[in-house]
Amino acid sequence: MTDVLTIHWWTDLHLRDELTGKPEAEGAIWMERHYYAALDKLKMSVDIANAERPDLTVCTGDVIDRKQPLLAFAQMWDRVAGPKAFMLGNHDLDAGYDSVVRELGCEERPVTAGSRFTCSFPLYRGQTRARVLLLDTYVDAEGRHRYDTCEGTIGEAAFAWLESEMTICAETVVLLFAHNGIDGPEMYFDPRHAARFRELASRVVGSGKRLYHLAGHHHVYPLAVVRDVLPGYTFVNGVAMIAGSRSSVNVLTLDERGELAIDYRAVEYPYRPYRPHHPDRSDRASTYQN
Ligand SMILES: [Fe+2]
Repeated sequence: MTDVLTIHWWTDLHLRDELTGKPEAEGAIWMERHYYAALDKLKMSVDIANAERPDLTVCTGDVIDRKQPLLAFAQMWDRVAGPKAFMLGNHDLDAGYDSVVRELGCEERPVTAGSRFTCSFPLYRGQTRARVLLLDTYVDAEGRHRYDTCEGTIGEAAFAWLESEMTICAETVVLLFAHNGIDGPEMYFDPRHAARFRELASRVVGSGKRLYHLAGHHHVYPLAVVRDVLPGYTFVNGVAMIAGSRSSVNVLTLDERGELAIDYRAVEYPYRPYRPHHPDRSDRASTYQN
């Protein structure tokens, strides 16, 4: 029997408290963003995580849409019972980096490459092992947070950290989560840093490791976008939870051969209690396997 690691991955919730539960309100929908539905989807995501108990729940940010308290998100995040990891997005910085740290209770976390959210840890289930990295892509060369931009960046300290973590780790599979996709749309990442990252990725996979980079920011839906950048290096742009009245939690599974698959759990407005085998669940529709 294969040991399979499971990760629930949330991204781009874009909460706006004043529009929560108000589909008729002015501004409740803007382009693909269904603001009124965001909190209901988030509640369902918590229920799903607590029912399915994945090995890890990851959130890659933009939990708010503009400057406002993070309380609605923080209360839900606190309810997730299992292991979890958070990375901020550019919109979360509208509230200020210090506010994000404080409101999510991260004041005591160590600073890595300029951020209390950048971190590295192993994730094991039986013979299936992965190194999980979360990278803050909003830290400048001097180690300060960058505001009023949606272009991702990787400073020198972050490059040194990435190189060290990806090459020294004992695990042969690396899952690198960030808000911005380094290999997503070109306008969303500093092209010099993206090119340099690909050189690093090339060395990492050249040593026999398997690299997956998973990001949000660019709001894709209803399915994730998956692209093989190099042999052994795959980029995944996850489904944005804000998109539509119904969207998805991305569910990643990794087997002991290092193969990653993507599945989905539907979340929608209005909130409904989670039923594991609900007939509406259309989320087995797309599976990616390398
Ligand atoms: Fe974003």
